[in-house]
Amino acid sequence: MEANIPKRKESGKSLRIKVISMGNAEVGKSCIIKRYCEKRFVSKYLATIGIDYGVTKVQVRDREIKVNIFDMAGHPFFYEVRNEFYKDTQGVILVYDVGQKDSFDALDAWLAEMKQDLGPHGNMENIVFAVCANKIDCAKHRCVDESEGRLWAESKGFLYFETSAQTGEGISEMFQTFYVSIVDLCENGGKRPITNSSASFTKEQADSIRRIRNSKDSWDMLGVKPGASRDEVNKAYRKLAVLLHPDKCVAPGSEDAFKAVVNARTALLKNIK
Ligand code: GTP
Ligand code: MG
Repeated sequence: MEANIPKRKESGKSLRIKVISMGNAEVGKSCIIKRYCEKRFVSKYLATIGIDYGVTKVQVRDREIKVNIFDMAGHPFFYEVRNEFYKDTQGVILVYDVGQKDSFDALDAWLAEMKQDLGPHGNMENIVFAVCANKIDCAKHRCVDESEGRLWAESKGFLYFETSAQTGEGISEMFQTFYVSIVDLCENGGKRPITNSSASFTKEQADSIRRIRNSKDSWDMLGVKPGASRDEVNKAYRKLAVLLHPDKCVAPGSEDAFKAVVNARTALLKNIK
């Protein structure tokens, strides 16, 4: 359980931590780090070759934190290089591009790669994950909306931020909250503090919102077979309405999911005798 807790305290209240970046190639990992550390943005794509390493110091409350940042290459070609670097990590910046659905869908595979490389004794529960929905400045091309990203992150107990390395939006806030959470985790004996968001909705609610979002028609949305009776439609509707009513459910996307369910029921009942 304690594998990731930094063992060595430097003088007084200082602390040394290891942070890595993860996510598909070209999503903006290096630019996010550069924006925070060097306050600049490079528009030309310079793929990270294997790993880039940097050290920075930050202050969290009364502690000086020495941060070792390992910026990983996202390209599959560098898997062999990356897998040396997952262990002894306290924080992960997990990035996707809001204009590239593939990079969002790949987040689970990134977690799986890390889990596999940490091995059977590795523990992902004592690592702070900050999910960055990056390139929000490209609003025209956006195809993963905030509630979808937030739902994925928060249902796993991860932090979620909307960021743009280009404009700087969300970057300082992300790093600040990320570092505070890592220090909280270290001071909490290596247990990830329970966030309000992750504690406030259930897996069933998150799964239902995702299912509704991906449903192909109104039958599918209510989870009934095509041609179901009025009673079956109403029963399925009532169950979802109780689960997702905005007064009861605070999961990201619940309001839209609730409205979609109301509309699906209305549409189906119109055509059922
Ligand atoms: P690998 O090192 O190959 O894994 O890629 P990476 O995730 O580090 O991507 P990188 O930071 O190199 O950025 C990739 C491209 O996206 C570059 O052309 C950046 O200029 C651009 N980019 C990064 N962040 C943003 C952003 O927030 N907005 C916009 N518009 N472009 C961005
Ligand atoms: Mg890079």
